[in-house]
Amino acid sequence: MKHLLSAGDLSRDEALTVLDTAVRMDEALAGREVKKLPTLRGRTVVNLFFEDSTRTRISFELAAKRLSADVVTFSAKGSSVSKGESLKDTALTLEAMGADAVVCRHAMSGAPHRLAGWVRGSVLNAGDGTHEHPTQALLDAYTMRRRLGRVDGLRVAIVGDVLHSRVARSNVLLLHTLGAEVTLVAPPTLLPVGVAEWPAAVSYDLDATLPKADVVMMLRVQRERMGQAYFPSEREYSRRYGLDRHRMGLLPDDAIVMHPGPMNRGMEIAAEVADDPRRSTIVEQVSNGVSVRMAVLYLLLGGAQ
Ligand code: NCD
Repeated sequence: MKHLLSAGDLSRDEALTVLDTAVRMDEALAGREVKKLPTLRGRTVVNLFFEDSTRTRISFELAAKRLSADVVTFSAKGSSVSKGESLKDTALTLEAMGADAVVCRHAMSGAPHRLAGWVRGSVLNAGDGTHEHPTQALLDAYTMRRRLGRVDGLRVAIVGDVLHSRVARSNVLLLHTLGAEVTLVAPPTLLPVGVAEWPAAVSYDLDATLPKADVVMMLRVQRERMGQAYFPSEREYSRRYGLDRHRMGLLPDDAIVMHPGPMNRGMEIAAEVADDPRRSTIVEQVSNGVSVRMAVLYLLLGGAQ
């Protein structure tokens, strides 16, 4: 594997190798006072973030640093991109500087794929438009496996703004590969065209889905990508598709609640659900993200050495 552009590119074996490697990364760091492995010493990882990000950017940065790579983080604001430099020129600049891996987040679906054609190093998609976010899907699968012991056979409900969610698309692809059964739950206006071809069931009824779910993954309502009204009001959205304490009670006893962050507390998820110590995995997802990204960087960069 040279690049990680889509969760759909991963075979079952490759995906399991990433998850197993993430476990090994956790174990290797657990015994150390200094949280650093020498694995990628001398390699250069460039984080190229053309779109706002907190968790993903910091997570990739930390992952690369824990593997002792040299890390350069480049945000579009304050760079020549704000002067109109094209993605291609930025790529050629990175290439001239000898980046071994480029981690790319971009508002345009497909940008990391284009990048992969222009640079010699590995390209990791850290979220492209409404298209994909493969490392998020991997860290979500890793979290499910840690909490519930497996991914195969799990019933996963993905709820909310599926239309704008690269997290949903990548999760559907990866979870299908790993043998989980996915149900997308959303108002019809927030489902993408062609969703019938996705390897997932569709429901408009959250209350009917929850009692049969081992995992419920809530999605952020992505107002910044909405030019028009997709639902009558926030209150109405919350009433039908928000996860509050009452609804959480419909879940089977050991089901977990996930959210990729950032959350709109009180909209798609109630604060008391997000903070529920037994069911909510939201904070664990963030820590697991670092281990999974270390695993991906290691496999893409270290493996071939
Ligand atoms: C997601 C993203 O940026 O796609 N967040 C993340 O990476 N943790 C989801 C979102 O923005 O809602």
